[in-house]
Amino acid sequence: MAITTDMKLYYYLSRYQFMNSTSLYDNHGRPINYLRLAVTDRCNLRCFYCMPEEGIKYLPKKELLTFEEIERLIAIVASLGISKIRLTGGEPFVRTDLMALIKKIKQVDGIEELHLTTNGILTAPYIPELKSLGIGSINLSLDTLDRDRFFKITRRDEFVSTWKTFELLMKHGIPVKINAVVMEGKNIEDLIPMVELTRNYPISVRFIEEMPFNGEGNHYPVLTWTYKKIVAHLEEHFGKLVRMSDPNNSTAYHYQVPGYVGNIGVIAAFSRTFCGTCNRIRVTAQGVLKTCLYDDGVLNIKTLFRAGASDDEVIRELMNAFSHRAKDGFEAEAKRTLHPAIESMSTIGG
Ligand code: GTP
Ligand code: 5AD
Ligand code: SF4
Repeated sequence: MAITTDMKLYYYLSRYQFMNSTSLYDNHGRPINYLRLAVTDRCNLRCFYCMPEEGIKYLPKKELLTFEEIERLIAIVASLGISKIRLTGGEPFVRTDLMALIKKIKQVDGIEELHLTTNGILTAPYIPELKSLGIGSINLSLDTLDRDRFFKITRRDEFVSTWKTFELLMKHGIPVKINAVVMEGKNIEDLIPMVELTRNYPISVRFIEEMPFNGEGNHYPVLTWTYKKIVAHLEEHFGKLVRMSDPNNSTAYHYQVPGYVGNIGVIAAFSRTFCGTCNRIRVTAQGVLKTCLYDDGVLNIKTLFRAGASDDEVIRELMNAFSHRAKDGFEAEAKRTLHPAIESMSTIGG
């Protein structure tokens, strides 16, 4: 007998009904337990790898998920087995009243971890409260330690604000990962000094392969700074790095300079070597579900909500999407219907 899509859907739904709530699997047997949610597409920087200089056309406010819709969505996905949330943007702190949303999310049953990815410009005043609310960690986007290069990369003179946030995060003992996109001609001279931060700070400095999500298209015909080249470059300076074990479902390969307290992560975001253990889904600021960073959106949750769908109906649609996930970022990219992968990371949500 041929297996139909409906039968497959039933299979996944039954797994959902009969397994405990921490067991949500996709059609490739990968657990899904992590939601990355963009709270806005707006940003106070104009990073060269993310947006054109003139910015992108932002969504009208009414097109963003409201806080009530976000809370509803999180309660639904938590009931299905999502236990980790990362808020992204754009820049999350550009959204008015972000802290009120954070407090609400912390109270949702089943959400065990809440994390943030931020550029740090507006973040400093909220650090004590984030600490007391039990934020899991903060990923800080910072591509250089040099104020002039920061300006050239982000087109804003805000290095000092981001650095102040970094220092305060350290003071409050909040776990930090620094995200640096590696770009030929922009920040290669920063790689070694950024690794030097791990000598005394217990942080992870992550070097990320540049992806084409800059709102325009590829900067380079071929990616120069692949994860392998990044590691080779660091080893030329530091000698053999210690290869550490990676946490489950990690996007980064971890290394350490012997004797340093922090570590280095190298993220093959363009080479997509970690898709086999991908446990994450994304919801964009406009409420579109992406089951892979490279797909062009598989379900409009906002439209469902605003059309009056019940929670059960929303769950059915979500489970259907989870049972049709592309096996990796290459398949997701090939299946795109809209256009090549050129949208801004600010729209996608990182
Ligand atoms: P944690 O593992 O929770 O620390 O978060 P993360 O590293 O996934 O999140 P972060 O927002 O700091 O992203 C770091 C970089 O990894 C960004 O450039 C992301 O776009 C990239 N990244 C995160 N998830 C994926 C993914 O599923 N696929 C690809 N290709 N890149 C990803
Ligand atoms: N390629 C790789 N990483 C990117 N980010 C933003 N745009 C890109 C891109 N084009 C990273 C930033 C941020 C994270 C969420 O995504 O470093 O920290
Ligand atoms: Fe803003 Fe982040 Fe994009 Fe930079 S990468 S412009 S910080 S959204």
